[in-house]
Amino acid sequence: MELADFIDIHCHILPGLDDGPKKLAQCLDLVRCYTDVGIKKVIATPHFLPGTIWTVRPQKILALIDKLQKTLSDQGIQFEIIPGMEIAIQKNMGKRLAQGDYLPLGGRSCTYLLEPPFEISGLNPLESLVEFMAQGKKVILAHPERCEYFQLHPEILSRAHGSGVAVQINCGSLLGRFGPAAQKMAKQLLAWEVVDYLASDAHSAHSRRPPDVSEWNELQQLISPETLWRIAAVNPGKLLA
Ligand SMILES: [Fe+2]
Repeated sequence: MELADFIDIHCHILPGLDDGPKKLAQCLDLVRCYTDVGIKKVIATPHFLPGTIWTVRPQKILALIDKLQKTLSDQGIQFEIIPGMEIAIQKNMGKRLAQGDYLPLGGRSCTYLLEPPFEISGLNPLESLVEFMAQGKKVILAHPERCEYFQLHPEILSRAHGSGVAVQINCGSLLGRFGPAAQKMAKQLLAWEVVDYLASDAHSAHSRRPPDVSEWNELQQLISPETLWRIAAVNPGKLLA
């Protein structure tokens, strides 16, 4: 599979919303990382974490993407940014979901990207997912391989996957950028065939960037061609269909 066919469903590309690019110029640098390797579309997934400054409204994300898309078009850059959100898992999410505080992937789908906490807390990261499913929604867990709870209980994640919870792993985890535990678990999840999506979780053109050609070659050594095609192109494409 060519890197150009990769549809990235998880990246922090919108300026001024979270710990992604601060300014438009940095956002455009990140866009260039994608276009330089032929990638044509991504889903922008700014953090949503109530109780912090990361509590962006869906309307603001949609308006910002409209503006950015116009800027790209004015500069002759063919690149599509699709709305989404990376929603931090908290207790009692059903009310916010019902009142439309969360933006699904693609803007109008019924699939939400949910981020479990990195460290073990009093929160069972799977409990809140039930609230989404009870409202007929689908969920994708963002990078559970980086989450201590799932590193300690990978079988719980495997069972959840069997019950319909989709799993997204980060390119960087497989490449060892988030330490040996995340790398080991990402490989384990691939071996168990419980990975549905591969994404960059890119934050900038520099420190946490989308995969370049040499990293993509490395990923091709770690993932079978059939699986890579399914988790990096086919499943992301279905999300946007
Ligand atoms: Fe993220």
